[in-house]
Amino acid sequence: MAASAASCISLLVLVVALAAVASAQLSPTFYDTSCPRAAATIKAAVVAAVRAEPRMGASLVRLHFHDCFVQGCDASILLAGQEQDAPPNKGSVRGYGVIENIKTQVEAICKQTVSCADIVTLAARDSVVALGGPSWTVPLGRRDSLDANVAQANSDLPGPTSSLNDLVTGFMKKNSLSLVDMVALSGAHTLGQAQCQNFRARIYGGDANINAAYATSLKANCPQTGGGDNNLAPLDPTTPNGFDNAYYANLMSQRGLLHSDQVLFNNGTADNTVRNFASSAAAFGSAFASAMIKMGNIEPKTGTQGQIRLVCSKVNS
Ligand code: HEM
Repeated sequence: MAASAASCISLLVLVVALAAVASAQLSPTFYDTSCPRAAATIKAAVVAAVRAEPRMGASLVRLHFHDCFVQGCDASILLAGQEQDAPPNKGSVRGYGVIENIKTQVEAICKQTVSCADIVTLAARDSVVALGGPSWTVPLGRRDSLDANVAQANSDLPGPTSSLNDLVTGFMKKNSLSLVDMVALSGAHTLGQAQCQNFRARIYGGDANINAAYATSLKANCPQTGGGDNNLAPLDPTTPNGFDNAYYANLMSQRGLLHSDQVLFNNGTADNTVRNFASSAAAFGSAFASAMIKMGNIEPKTGTQGQIRLVCSKVNS
């Protein structure tokens, strides 16, 4: 009797321990049996979207970042009219329609199996590859949230006027992303565009550490007064259309577009990492890939948490 009670307890302990491991872990083979064609379907759709509009690759990478930094990588950003309308996202984050379109294609091959959160994560990796960047293996098995968190979108997404200290502290709170991870992830600004309202102060005297010719060239499409808030400039003025390490050489010549870019190279603690990534595309590529995996592992919902949404923009009814 005592022996069978003891073995019952050990079995229970084992089951609880296994459940804890299962809920904490993602796996690259998660859909190998349940939806073997998922990854190829997502990749083909991303390639088509990027071919139609190269900037979409940038937008999908940023969408993943803005998903993960708010209550983890759980597709909370995709729920219509919530985080999307928070100031750090509104009128700026793009790609919702592309993800919804991919979700429709994936639902057609595997009903309610692949989460929107995993689609966003794979789409970010596939975008980087489509634009000439490094590849990496994506751990999978995230589930979708039942809610969004507007307050956290406002507090935890870094803004373009952030100081180096703000960035280091803010990233450290997210799965312990280190200074090197943060500098590597900022290299995503080798892609995409920013609006005049996000760099106007920097080019009109707000920052001393800006290349004068670069500031002058930006002023043409970003007037100091009289509008133009949404006018765009490339985050990487040297090679705006491809994923490479030019972003870091730009910083070394004071051609960071945002204040939050240039703080990475300004006689501070990130300078050596910037120099390293500027001089070695391989060092940047491998640091970027490992930091993207770490960012993708921020507070995933697994096991019985959350749900697999049928449509990414709303929770299941
Ligand atoms: C370090 C802190 C960061 C700050 C303060 C920041 C801020 C910004 C801002 C203000 C924009 C322009 C938005 C607009 O004007 O509409 C932008 C664009 C972008 N960001 Fe960041 N960002 C940061 C880190 C990251 C990270 C970690 C990633 C991805 C790994 C990323 C990827 C992008 C991309 C790809 C774009 C261009 C998007 C497009 O063209 O649609 N950023 N970021």
